[in-house]
Amino acid sequence: MTTDHPVRALAARLRGARRVTVLTGAGVSAASGVPTFRGPNGLWRRYRVEELATPQAFAREPRLVWDWYAWRREQIAACRPNRAHEVLAAWSVRHAAWRVITQNVDDLHLRAGTRELIRLHGSIWEMSCWAPCDRAPRRWRDERVPFPEPLPRCPHCAALARPAVVWFGEPLNARDLRAAHEAAACDVFIAAGTSALVYPAAGLIDAARARGAFTVEINLETTSASAAVDVAIQGAAEEVLPEIEALL
Ligand code: OAD
Repeated sequence: MTTDHPVRALAARLRGARRVTVLTGAGVSAASGVPTFRGPNGLWRRYRVEELATPQAFAREPRLVWDWYAWRREQIAACRPNRAHEVLAAWSVRHAAWRVITQNVDDLHLRAGTRELIRLHGSIWEMSCWAPCDRAPRRWRDERVPFPEPLPRCPHCAALARPAVVWFGEPLNARDLRAAHEAAACDVFIAAGTSALVYPAAGLIDAARARGAFTVEINLETTSASAAVDVAIQGAAEEVLPEIEALL
């Protein structure tokens, strides 16, 4: 449920803003059919992070980890961008200084046509060498669904390949993180569809506020960020963002 007033107030702010940054999380892809991580039907309710999304898990049981990622790739391959992705893509095309930073690995922002997308947690459609070998590029694209063999290999050294996503306990790519912090220096910062629990991504909301941004949250629920932002809009990203767009 959205209240009309904050949506109008945000639209008015956006009309006067030069730099706008939107941080997205799993909630933005929920309407496309991609499961979120937390919440009643979240992936981390059914699966254990330590068994599937850490380098230790991959070292121990690469097949189990790849089975899970192969299943998620199949799921995501069947999903299409929704209205939230479309609005954000349109903004990125229309305004050179409006940025999208995403924690999502599904690439739906890219498929919607978002320009200058900052992907903080990597992409489920990319791989890197687990070894790592010095002949392979840092990451390469591989959209095969399903894989011809259960365990994909580095085409350069034949060692195991891994999904080029950021696992728990791993640092974010320094260039992506720097780009995200640069984007946090903006007039309006919107956190959409994220529980704001995973750092350093969640810290961008505070970073933006500390640098003078007007901060906004769009979420179905109250999160750990709700009390700290200037305006918390309770609603679905795929509904609220088109409402805002219609007012711009
Ligand atoms: P979460 O699953 O933690 O949170 C999803 C948020 O989206 C929740 O706050 C929901 O209330 C909200 N939500 C659900 N549907 C929505 C909708 N239609 N519109 C608006 N909000 C909606 O997902 P993230 O915050 O993205 O990291 O999780 C952050 C990171 O934790 C992920 O990138 C992933 C995960 O473990 C790694 O794997 C490193």
